[in-house]
Amino acid sequence: MSLITLSGLTPTSSGIHLGNYFGAVRQWIDLQDAGGAHYFIASYHALTTVRDPAQLSSNIRAVAMDYLALGLDPERAVIYRQEDVPEVCELSWILSTLTPMGLLERCVAYKDKVSQGISADHGLFAYPVLMAADILIVRSHRVPVGQDQKQHVEVTRDIAGKFNQTYGAVFPVPEPLILEGNAAKVPGIDGQKMSKSYGNDLCIFESEKKLRKRVMSIVTDSQGVDESKEPEGNTIFELYKLVATDDKVDAMADKLRSSGIGYGYGHAKQELFEAMLDYFADARSRRLQLEENPDEVEQILRSGADRIRPVVEKTMDAVRSAIGVIPSHS
Ligand code: ADP
Ligand code: TRP
Repeated sequence: MSLITLSGLTPTSSGIHLGNYFGAVRQWIDLQDAGGAHYFIASYHALTTVRDPAQLSSNIRAVAMDYLALGLDPERAVIYRQEDVPEVCELSWILSTLTPMGLLERCVAYKDKVSQGISADHGLFAYPVLMAADILIVRSHRVPVGQDQKQHVEVTRDIAGKFNQTYGAVFPVPEPLILEGNAAKVPGIDGQKMSKSYGNDLCIFESEKKLRKRVMSIVTDSQGVDESKEPEGNTIFELYKLVATDDKVDAMADKLRSSGIGYGYGHAKQELFEAMLDYFADARSRRLQLEENPDEVEQILRSGADRIRPVVEKTMDAVRSAIGVIPSHS
């Protein structure tokens, strides 16, 4: 039996950015070949920040198109919406009765979000428990996510262990799969970690015009065109390394280091913009095709829901009999 893999993204905005892709989604694509891959859209999690219903439904559709355009493949992975498995909410409650407050109080994502002004409500606090339910309901063994989600997977491991200890072995204890290197923390246009919530992201499917404008607004130091500039640690160069070939990366490093050749940050930004368009050319054209075929996208999500339902029902039968609370319809 192949290992089960599960991951998802929260549809809090309408576009996947470079950090999401290189930190998480690219790994998901590679893992599809091993079998047992499950990727979903975490719509209920988004309710902690998106309260406009039209906006949320549109974000959910956009993330589905982004997934498919970037190479998540319904032939090799089960792709579904969280709302098609509402039992995660039931499981989340059950798991919450085994979750120590202290475990959630230590989660830095909660504190970060509150300090950004997101309201400190119970859903935001309990967010990692719902995440544990997503992971455990498919009895996942591994969870490929970016560095900043590692703590949440550790919470899931604790909760799974506590459940198994209390009620008997129902769940595998999942491992986080985290990439090392420059994909672990992709910088945004202001040099901080790229994140939707910092407003510093570069969205992969942005129009060319807007994308160019965003790239041109990357913050740099004030070294002039004829001065030698250190590439390492420079935001433009760090992003370029993700999307350009090795030869081109070496060439940019040489040009930045040279003095008196009239090569400034503006030139480097233009090269980054072009490399991004090249790297994502196929994905961008697939994304346009998908936009014209909303029925195809809906069909893929429905078939993902059909495929996930028996898995969820089996887990919930095991959970309900383990805890001794069995609804009459099951
Ligand atoms: P955001 O910070 O933009 O809200 P999410 O929290 O929705 O992004 O993250 C979705 C996935 O992308 C997670 O697995 C996360 O770890 C990864 N990720 C997000 N931003 C980055 C980044 N700048 N570098 C690497 N990985 C990232
Ligand atoms: N919290 C994750 C994020 O912001 C999204 C998510 C929800 C998730 N449930 C999950 C990721 C389960 C992995 C596994 O990116």
